Amino acid sequence: MKHSSIRVIHEEHASLIAVLRSMNLMVERGPEDRPEVFFDLLRAMLFYMDEFPEKQHQLKEDELLFPAVAARSAVARELIDKLAGARALGRRKIQELQQQLPAWEMLGDSRRPLFEANLRSYVEFCVDHIQLEEKIVIPEALRVLKEADWLQLDANFGNQGEPVGGRYPREPLYDRLYARIAMHSPASLGLGRYHTDWTAFSPLQSAAHGMRA
Ligand SMILES: [Fe+2]
Repeated sequence: MKHSSIRVIHEEHASLIAVLRSMNLMVERGPEDRPEVFFDLLRAMLFYMDEFPEKQHQLKEDELLFPAVAARSAVARELIDKLAGARALGRRKIQELQQQLPAWEMLGDSRRPLFEANLRSYVEFCVDHIQLEEKIVIPEALRVLKEADWLQLDANFGNQGEPVGGRYPREPLYDRLYARIAMHSPASLGLGRYHTDWTAFSPLQSAAHGMRA
């Protein structure tokens, strides 16, 4: 990828998808004979999904990439507005899951179906959101932005391999949290490296019909 800003966005999407996919797989399997590890890990994953997008990822999209592409593409502008409108719903969903997990842990399996159903809905919601950015907004950016725009964007993104530079430097706390999640995850989840496997999810239906309500 020629533009470091887009590479950063791809990598962050990949880490988010990896955590979402792992949560789905974990909950499908259930706590088995290690409930403490299971619930600790899910709690860490939910916390990551609550914090990292808002405090790191979306800042770069909302303040840097999206305004640049929206200024030059009506298609992107319309979609970016819809995505921004859906963010509040995403936050509500993750906060509900953070409350519903201890209910399952402390009150038992009678609370599992609600958590499972809401987690599936949340994962689908987030994957749709990311896919719309990947399949529509980023291609539009690559189509309409000029070399001077990219120079400015890449400079503002900074060198994301280092915790310095750019307007929103990489926060090592989140890398450590991701590493901790990966370290405690079963190897079979494949969370040890960034891994975007779109086929692991149901087909993207909402892309053709606008965002899910
Ligand atoms: Fe994104």
